[in-house]
Amino acid sequence: MGPRFFVGGNFKMNGTQAFLKNLIDSLNASQLDRDAEVVIAPPSLYLDQCRKQANKEIGVAAQNAFNASSGAFTGEISPEQLKDLGIEWVILGHSERREIFKESDELIALKVAFALKTGIKVIACIGEKLEERESGKTFEVVTRQLQAIAKQINDWTNVVIAYEPVWAIGTGKVATPKQAQEIHEYIRKWLKENVSEATAENTRIIYGGSVNASNATELAKQHDINGFLVGGASLKPEFVNIVNARI
Ligand code: G3P
Repeated sequence: MGPRFFVGGNFKMNGTQAFLKNLIDSLNASQLDRDAEVVIAPPSLYLDQCRKQANKEIGVAAQNAFNASSGAFTGEISPEQLKDLGIEWVILGHSERREIFKESDELIALKVAFALKTGIKVIACIGEKLEERESGKTFEVVTRQLQAIAKQINDWTNVVIAYEPVWAIGTGKVATPKQAQEIHEYIRKWLKENVSEATAENTRIIYGGSVNASNATELAKQHDINGFLVGGASLKPEFVNIVNARI
């Protein structure tokens, strides 16, 4: 059976009130695979709107949150504030946060630990850049990113790991099912050896990077791929087909 299939839609910095209203109206009206957990991540400005509008079965995630409850952190939002709005999830460690906003492995791990402690579930993103893959460093990078998180948390129950090779994000260049499966299998083995067998069995390891309606079915068949984190295609009607990739 394996852990419950998980599909996240990372809207990134896209959308307006009207656009998101349409998108969620159509998601609410769609037949979504009941065995799949669906979580949408709008920009923080629209979290409240989306939480109020989306069906209860659809989870809502922030795209980031800081590792403090409140205070003098201009421009940031806290896991406490997410809780206040009824937001259940947060995406942390996305490669765009790592690259553009210079977030380190350590900061991301602290944010993961803090969000979990507050009661917010985490989609923790990891993945190598093109030059790292080309120089044979994929396993090393993924291990380093996992290790930083494992240093800060013991309980992975409320963590979904998103493997997103940076070279596949927004490029239309999707990892082949074999390439993705190889890393997912490695991540699961790493969890088994470094956390516990139960964590390895139960943790959702999802793939992100140019997932669309036409490649989702093959990817979803891979043994260690438990779902997707979808960027561009989550803003389109085909998101429903990705959610339903296994039916
Ligand atoms: O978080 C999802 C993401 O980075 C993948 O984006 O547009 O390649 O599906 P995209």
